[in-house]
Amino acid sequence: MVDNKDLEAEIHPLKNEDRKSQENLGNRLKNEDNLKSKTPQSRLSRCRTVAFFLSLFICLFVVFVVSFIIPCPDRPVSERMWKIDYNAAVIYDFLAMEDINKDRIQDVLFLYKNINSSNNFTRSCSDEGFSTPCTFAAAVSGANGSVLWEKPVAQDVALMECTVSQLSGSKVSSACILMGRPGSRIALDLFTGDTLWSHPGSFGGNTSILSPLLQLPDVDGDGTPDLLLLTQEGKEVSGDIYSGSTGHQIGHRGSLGVDGDGDCSALLHVTWTGAHYILLPCASSLCGSSVKGLYEKVTGKDGPFKKDPFWENMLNSSIHRRLLHSSGAVRYLMNVPGKAGQDMLLVSSEACMLLDGQELTPRWTLSTAQILRKPILGHYKPDTLAVLIENGTNIDRQIMLLDLSTGTILWSQALPSLPGGPPSTSLPTADHRSAFFFWGLHELVGSSEMEPIEARHSLYMFHPTLPSVLLELANVSANIVAFDAVLFEPSRHAAYVLLTGPASSDEPGLVSVTKHKVRDLVPGSRVVRLGEGRSDSDQAIRDRFSRLRYRSKA
Ligand SMILES: *[C@@H]1O[C@H](CO)[C@@H](O)[C@H](O)[C@H]1NC(C)=O
Ligand SMILES: *[C@@H]1O[C@H](CO)[C@@H](O)[C@H](O)[C@H]1NC(C)=O
Ligand SMILES: *[C@@H]1O[C@H](CO)[C@@H](O)[C@H](O)[C@H]1NC(C)=O
Ligand SMILES: *[C@@H]1O[C@H](CO)[C@@H](O)[C@H](O)[C@H]1NC(C)=O
Ligand SMILES: *[C@@H]1O[C@H](CO)[C@@H](O)[C@H](O)[C@H]1NC(C)=O
Ligand SMILES: *[C@@H]1O[C@H](CO)[C@@H](O)[C@H](O)[C@H]1NC(C)=O
Ligand SMILES: *[C@@H]1O[C@H](CO)[C@@H](O)[C@H](O)[C@H]1NC(C)=O
Repeated sequence: MVDNKDLEAEIHPLKNEDRKSQENLGNRLKNEDNLKSKTPQSRLSRCRTVAFFLSLFICLFVVFVVSFIIPCPDRPVSERMWKIDYNAAVIYDFLAMEDINKDRIQDVLFLYKNINSSNNFTRSCSDEGFSTPCTFAAAVSGANGSVLWEKPVAQDVALMECTVSQLSGSKVSSACILMGRPGSRIALDLFTGDTLWSHPGSFGGNTSILSPLLQLPDVDGDGTPDLLLLTQEGKEVSGDIYSGSTGHQIGHRGSLGVDGDGDCSALLHVTWTGAHYILLPCASSLCGSSVKGLYEKVTGKDGPFKKDPFWENMLNSSIHRRLLHSSGAVRYLMNVPGKAGQDMLLVSSEACMLLDGQELTPRWTLSTAQILRKPILGHYKPDTLAVLIENGTNIDRQIMLLDLSTGTILWSQALPSLPGGPPSTSLPTADHRSAFFFWGLHELVGSSEMEPIEARHSLYMFHPTLPSVLLELANVSANIVAFDAVLFEPSRHAAYVLLTGPASSDEPGLVSVTKHKVRDLVPGSRVVRLGEGRSDSDQAIRDRFSRLRYRSKA
């Protein structure tokens, strides 16, 4: 049903308007009468109007100021590449990354020994009481290579370990602990380079320091993790415990009752029952000693540690505190994530095996492998850990990726290398796999004669989604001392850092610290096809590598 009035309005729209405007006029007149009779209220409403427009204006002004006049706190621009040189210096195989200046870009920490003291230093060796040359620690901005702090730290450094740990509350403990030669120990604040504590000291003339510096849970109740240093004199391995917050020795030195093998690093292993054991190689075996036993021996007190009955039985039944007989000398020992705790990957001169972290039984063994470099972990299949090993050296080297849980070979490629080439590394990618970086000499594939061409390391990149392709990113002819690939900014660019310098510490030379963005190297890279595979063009392959997104290490 349509209202009659509306129907009329449709037929005579103008007429209707007329009537409406007449009504309005009437209303307005009435309103004006009203206004005149109530003036205070009219002022109030005018005030309201003014207030409304004023606040609107202020709001708009603020929006304007915020969006146009005050500049955004822009991110520091990260340079694609930077390089720092030191003439007449020696560089150590130590490289650490941490965001030191809080600009959300990882910064680079390294150690070098400078021979020429006439370089531009804030402090010289003699300022810190060392003779020239001495060892400097330096932290440089990952964004542009500018020096954040740099100072002489020791006459010579045997070990350096940096840790950032979140203490109770929001307190962050960040320290780099250095063991100097012949035995001093120093802790530096990672963020400022300030000395936190420093103790002179000296081990006996024939005592060697074993790497790495192990971190114990807090034993002296000051809230900071404490330190365990292993030393070897003759065959005997001993342990010293130091407070992490003051550097003071806790108790005295105690023997582990184990005959050490020298070179290979020790490992602090926590059994699935929560007992701490120090593991180290001893003549073709793996030997162990409980941290509880050592702590009781050096302090005469009961500590916060426990023993594992199963392990104690194994150790009790052997004279030399032997846990496991391995085929050949143990070369590398590392903890890897297991089902119920940490498992162990053991590399001996003849095999590579995964050991159960509690029972020490082999889960798998890869025999006939000549592994001369520490394995690294990464992901070949999404979210499934794989281990990268290098089998053989020189012309006979193979890069192999094994499934960590089963030991099956996922990928294998012959890639000759130069002796003493830099280590491989991996970086997680957004697809829950990893990009792998390794060094080699691809030129020599197929040609048996090893021409003395200028020794040149080539850096290769591999991603499991393109298994038949390697990307040759760069050629480096200098001697490489340390190398790592890192995600410099959260979910942004990956870059590699390279320390190059003289091979021998007796002959100082040019030392360089270089950072290169990986993605910038992709357009100029060389695509290496491994046998028959996809027939994508080189450019399409480079584009795939350029589009890779990286993920922070969990
Ligand atoms: C030390 O540096 C100065 C200037 O930087 C240079 O003239 C001198 O040759 C250098 N000495 C050595 C031994 O490299
Ligand atoms: C070297 O030191 C001088 C004065 O000590 C200073 O003016 C100059 O900027 C410094 N150069 C560098 C590269 O640090
Ligand atoms: C380098 O980057 C830092 C931020 O990481 C910045 O504070 C500094 O001014 C930059 N230096 C140069 C020389 O660009
Ligand atoms: C170090 O070892 C040598 C022989 O290897 C020995 O003659 C010397 O006395 C030892 N020095 C110390 C301080 O034990
Ligand atoms: C190990 O042997 C010692 C004596 O040699 C004994 O006191 C201890 O109870 C034994 N431990 C285990 C777990 O069998
Ligand atoms: C490791 O390399 C050697 C030769 O260098 C070879 O005989 C052996 O089969 C390789 N191991 C595996 C597991 O492929
Ligand atoms: C490395 O050098 C070889 C020649 O030896 C060259 O063919 C290749 O393109 C170079 N790679 C890069 C990434 O520059």
